Amino acid sequence: MFHFGRQTMRILITAGGTREYIDPVRFISNASSGRMGYALARASLKAGHKVTLITAPTALKPPTGAKIVRVESAAQMFEAVKKQFPKCDCLIMAAAVSDYTPAKPSKTKLKKQATKLTLELKPTQDILKWAGKHKSESRARRHGPRILVGFALEDRDLRGNAERKLREKNLDMIVANAPGAIGAQRSTVHIKIRGADWIETARSDKTWVARRILSLIATVTK
Ligand code: CTP
Repeated sequence: MFHFGRQTMRILITAGGTREYIDPVRFISNASSGRMGYALARASLKAGHKVTLITAPTALKPPTGAKIVRVESAAQMFEAVKKQFPKCDCLIMAAAVSDYTPAKPSKTKLKKQATKLTLELKPTQDILKWAGKHKSESRARRHGPRILVGFALEDRDLRGNAERKLREKNLDMIVANAPGAIGAQRSTVHIKIRGADWIETARSDKTWVARRILSLIATVTK
């Protein structure tokens, strides 16, 4: 059994909302501020861990001491995660990754027309699901598989849907919240470690929530 409790970990964190370009100047994105991922990076550094932060564009100042990898699209985030994943002990996917991307982005700026415009979208790669399938690869057996932490934003059956993602993506922990948490300073989150009961945090700021998530990660034993 390997216990990460007091060990220094190499933590890979993703943050922000990806941008899926329609043409060179227009994109589809979401309301994620990146605050949760950045708070997790800061809390991890404070706890003495090594941090790589893969970030989609945000208005936030990057935490000092972390290795920063800047990306825009879901495809670029996937490439960056694939590159960094072999070197990490724990992946926290706090990014709001677009589930769809334009099927045929235009190389030149689209001109407006009087008629309706239909955008065709194709699914992106589920990065976390990929990680769930590869979590044991190129790892010494004594270290056990990497710890995977996912996020779920649910407006219905929050715990039921999040629990399904925990199972289907082969995660060790899921952090679920409601849409009100987007961009908010303070929020309540529901956390489940695989095989344990749900924990509901008090309404608190993201710095506190990040610390709580990290202390729970330290209890995940392999
Ligand atoms: N995620 C990912 N790759 C994607 C989409 C999401 O790695 N292409 C990650 C997110 O970073 C987050 C978790 O998966 O940790 C969210 O799960 P997901 O099932 O994608 O949530 P939703 O996009 O909200 O899915 P649904 O619309 O089915 O609720």
